[in-house]
Amino acid sequence: MAVQIAPSILAADFARLADEAQAVADAADWLHVDVMDNHFVPNLTIGLPVVEALLKHTSLPLDCHLMIEDPERWAPKYAEAGAASVTIHAEAAHQPVRALRAIHSAGARAGLALNPVTPVEPFEDLLGEMDLLLLMTVEPGFGGQPFLDMVLPKLRRARRLVARHGGSIWLQVDGGVSGATIERCAEAGADFFVAGSAVYGGADPAAAVAGLREQAERASASAGWAAGAAGAAAGRDVDSGG
Ligand code: DX5
Ligand code: ZN
Repeated sequence: MAVQIAPSILAADFARLADEAQAVADAADWLHVDVMDNHFVPNLTIGLPVVEALLKHTSLPLDCHLMIEDPERWAPKYAEAGAASVTIHAEAAHQPVRALRAIHSAGARAGLALNPVTPVEPFEDLLGEMDLLLLMTVEPGFGGQPFLDMVLPKLRRARRLVARHGGSIWLQVDGGVSGATIERCAEAGADFFVAGSAVYGGADPAAAVAGLREQAERASASAGWAAGAAGAAAGRDVDSGG
């Protein structure tokens, strides 16, 4: 599937959100919105009222990443408000099937996020309930943290699980994604990239998005998993890359 780039507004100027969204409107595929409740993670950001306000000022689809407790209660409300994608954390969800189905019923794509040390294998049976699997490449809670290379083997394993499942689930990475790390992520199997400081930390956010996209496209084109997926899509008999 085509590379997706989602700038994270956590690194933007919260007092100028509409302008910050506009700055990447033509370059990005999504706007990533980090919702934190100071319980699931030790930080507090924005919630439903800000998402509702932002929706009136951007044409980009919102990718809401809920780092909150009780996602069963809150996630459907973000979908009802108009978020195009809503991701809940596996560690916070007591009834993940119920939460993912409620997001779908409210008209949004549904995502499941895993912290860096949460294994992916126990969630294989849940793949049929989701459109997106997010593998955190930092501990959630803050922007600007260093990328955790220890997640890369899990990313490779997740790509194989997703491929076995038909390949139509986005594999998202979030945390420390930059020009220095995005190619490793793409090679390992990611096709959906969230970047906060790498986009909003510089003078030209749109150019930063374009640069990240170019790197990700180049790296995934040469990756074994992508060649296998393309071959499978074309009906050819090729090695799936493992
Ligand atoms: C962290 C958030 C990320 C954050 C990434 O918990 O989920 O979306 O904005 O920021 P960078 O790209 O600066 O690591
Ligand atoms: Zn995030």
